[in-house]
Amino acid sequence: MTQKVALITGAASGIGQALAVAYAQRGVAVVGGYFPADPHDPQITRNLVEEAGGQCLMLPLDVTDSQSVDALAEQAVQTFGRLDYAVANAGLLRRAPLLEMTDQAWNAMLDVDLTGVMRTFRAAVRHMGEGGALVAISSIAGGVYGWQDHAHYAAAKAGVPGLCRSLAVELAGRGIRCNAVIPGLIETPQSLDRQNSLGPEGLAKAAKAIPLGRVGRADEVASLVRFLTSDEASYLTGQSIIIDGGLTVRWPD
Ligand code: NAI
Repeated sequence: MTQKVALITGAASGIGQALAVAYAQRGVAVVGGYFPADPHDPQITRNLVEEAGGQCLMLPLDVTDSQSVDALAEQAVQTFGRLDYAVANAGLLRRAPLLEMTDQAWNAMLDVDLTGVMRTFRAAVRHMGEGGALVAISSIAGGVYGWQDHAHYAAAKAGVPGLCRSLAVELAGRGIRCNAVIPGLIETPQSLDRQNSLGPEGLAKAAKAIPLGRVGRADEVASLVRFLTSDEASYLTGQSIIIDGGLTVRWPD
């Protein structure tokens, strides 16, 4: 069987790293982008993928730079000969109340969390043949709820399902499916950041309101993304799937 190839943005940490490992466990080769300005060591993802028996190429990537994104997709094809899946996972999260929201802060957020998704899919789809799958990571912040002091993040994440629905229709004729994943609270470097997100104490407190009784793990989101790109999901496109331990369906006490 032909080996499938997946491109993942933000692959040096959290959900992106877990996804690289999840693909390796199913024999899918990974081309991962890591953001050099962040402290995540890409070698850790490489090692985890190799331990899982997979192949992984990790390259520097800035999703706000179209050339950088295009180069990642080109490198995937040069190295592995094809590109089947693209997962727009890279994300930025900053706290900014409205009256402190500068245009620069707003634009920087949209540039990563929404336009970065479009750049990733545009670069990947150029190299896909007939067939393929795209997944973008939205959030319950914006995808379902509002989040005070995070209007820019929520606006970007609310845009992601609309982008995915449109591409699902546009690319269906080529057999390319496109879906969004809407995670709830998942323990990763992003959510553990006290300044911009809930931090460890906030996550522990929030866990009490989650019907499954805990926050989610990165590998649990990775399993869903891998399923959505696989042939098991061959008739599934244009959808936004919430994975949140039941948080958003709970009747508020
Ligand atoms: P994370 O912070 O570990 O992962 C985000 C990754 O994006 C990092 O590796 C970071 O270096 C990378 N990144 C940031 N700016 C970039 C840029 N300009 N170019 C390329 N890469 C860049 O956190 P996590 O949680 O794994 O985040 C993955 C996705 O899941 C993000 O889109 C995030 O917004 C989303 N998400 C996370 C939730 C959570 O509770 N952890 C909940 C809902 C959504």
